[in-house]
Amino acid sequence: MLGNFCYSNPTRLYFGEEALGYLREELPKYGKNVLLIYGGGSIKKNGIYDQVVAILKENGKQITEDAGVMPNPTVEKLYEGCRLARENQVDLILAVGGGSVCDYAKAVSVSAYCEEDPWEKYYLRMEEVDNRIIPVGCVLTMVGTGSEMNGGSVITNHAQKLKIGHVFGENVFPKFSILNPAFTFTVPRYQMVAGFFDIMSHILEQYFSGEDDNTSDYLMEGLLKSLIHSSRIAVKNPTDYEARSNIMWIATWALNTLVEKGKTTDWMVHMIGQSVGAYTDATHGMTLSAVSLAYYRHICPYGLAKFKRYAINVWGVTAQGKTDEQIAGEGLEKMEAYMREIGVAMGIGELGVTQEMLEGIAKGSFIMEGGYKVLTQEEIIRILQESM
Ligand code: NZQ
Ligand code: ZN
Repeated sequence: MLGNFCYSNPTRLYFGEEALGYLREELPKYGKNVLLIYGGGSIKKNGIYDQVVAILKENGKQITEDAGVMPNPTVEKLYEGCRLARENQVDLILAVGGGSVCDYAKAVSVSAYCEEDPWEKYYLRMEEVDNRIIPVGCVLTMVGTGSEMNGGSVITNHAQKLKIGHVFGENVFPKFSILNPAFTFTVPRYQMVAGFFDIMSHILEQYFSGEDDNTSDYLMEGLLKSLIHSSRIAVKNPTDYEARSNIMWIATWALNTLVEKGKTTDWMVHMIGQSVGAYTDATHGMTLSAVSLAYYRHICPYGLAKFKRYAINVWGVTAQGKTDEQIAGEGLEKMEAYMREIGVAMGIGELGVTQEMLEGIAKGSFIMEGGYKVLTQEEIIRILQESM
């Protein structure tokens, strides 16, 4: 049964090969000073930087650059961005990149005028924003996180060995996001497939809870089928526009707050994966793929009916003459075969995790409620051992 909820999403989204042109419609809404945030330089190689800067200049904007946002942005980088935003009295933050750049932009937007240490206030204490927020716009170049249309912002603190995501409210969502699927053609294969699995994980984190008849679950089955279909095409031909555009759109819907409505969620794959990330700095989607199968096999008995439904409706497992356990198990086997086919990480050992790290990773995994089983620390260690 769907419970009570409020749904709205304030991000204006421009999609398609002409999408960047709509930046011209958005820019006049903001003041002159723009903080242009980007990553390690891919946008300079593929020409997106030149296109964006030309439009900013044409609109008379004063540009301050904040380059070098690393995958899994760090708290030290955040402090640097806050200083730049304040010193240049920035009116708009324009993020051009993947989830790391978009997440970082949101972190700067809420932290620049925060009077306390933003890491402590927003990430350790998870407090609401009560200071000035600088508006953010995104030009997305890498697909997976959904950061283009949500309030998520994940920051890593290497000294404390913690990677924490704050899901901010609608006032922090990007004001607009520009999604041109062709901009993702140059994403390296490893990052591309990691992004595909990140999308799958976002959907599954929300799908595997509850036993009620919930429209969100039907929506998610559709998204999953479309993702599996299009990702198989994209790994063979990364410049297949139809496949890449479908995947871009699926990624947005997987985590723009629609499918979570009426659901409870514990996000345990992400909680464990993020802790793996804090210890290894590995690519986000790969930290999820590396722990997913052990996790899902562990909780399958507690949510058997849903795992059976997943096997039948998503993976096309036939039910006749089989027990529920067999059907559910076959679904997970098909998922495993798919993961090997697209080439994601299948274990945390390959991401640099050692036996000595397991206890710390388990401690850094926040234990949440809302799924089929509230895990204990010991269960997390067992899942990690099975994921090695
Ligand atoms: O830095 P550059 O040179 O731009 O290279 C990037 C980076 O190395 C490259 N790239 C991006 N677009 C490209 C490209 N290379 C060539 N051509 C292009 N068009 O890809 C690499 C990875 O980029 P990154 O932004 O790190 O990837 P992703 O989008 O997966 O973002 C990962 C971050 O998002 C967080 C993760 O934890 C991680 O920190 N997440 C954010 C979420 C949210 N906001 O809701 C939810 C997710 O679960 C996730 O936790
Ligand atoms: Zn994710």
